[in-house]
Amino acid sequence: MRFVLPKGRLLRDSLEILRRAGYKIDEPGERRLIQRFNGHEVLLARAFDVPVYVEHGVDVGITGSDVVEERGSDVFVPLDLPFGKCRLSLAMPRESVTPPEDMDGYRIATKYERITRNYFSSLGVEVEVIKLSGSVELAPKVGIADAIVDIVETGTTLRANGLVEVDKVMDVSAQLLVNRISQKTKFDEINSLVLAIKEVVKDGA
Ligand code: PRP
Repeated sequence: MRFVLPKGRLLRDSLEILRRAGYKIDEPGERRLIQRFNGHEVLLARAFDVPVYVEHGVDVGITGSDVVEERGSDVFVPLDLPFGKCRLSLAMPRESVTPPEDMDGYRIATKYERITRNYFSSLGVEVEVIKLSGSVELAPKVGIADAIVDIVETGTTLRANGLVEVDKVMDVSAQLLVNRISQKTKFDEINSLVLAIKEVVKDGA
């Protein structure tokens, strides 16, 4: 099987859950993006790209549900995983807090363009979405946006930048993703992986 795992903060827990499920993958080197183990292959990719790899042929991946939703990729998600838990929230400077229903015409900075558009259109509010690639908390500070939609885990980054949460857009956790064709053509292998991870999740709960 081919696995694609996210570089960055989800990598350690992803390797750990696979190891506990019987898939002992060595900690990959920073710069080594492909490695083999026991006849399998492991790719390391940006968390945002994991659903794209899985949709286009990599058998199995792990990434955050925020990314799966944002990419809108056509992948099978058999399991939520018990790590990477955080939330995607709308936040803005403490001194200008406004309910989302009253944000018509506001500029919203985010890495999550599609989720942000869907969120505001479900409220019937028209906003301008400014797509950034990271450090979005900067945007309201320097006046290029009125609010942000971003990941909040401990809330430290928001506080450090004078921002407060106005609304939760979605809860987030890591997810196991499976390529839709592999789900059929490699059913037995994938089924044993899913069952083994389910056991680990159950034991750890
Ligand atoms: C994420 C997120 C926030 C921060 C939230 O950033 O975008 O900035 O973590 O965590 P906290 O609530 O515990 O402070 P990340 O480090 O992934 O980098 P990014 O700014 O490039 O998105």
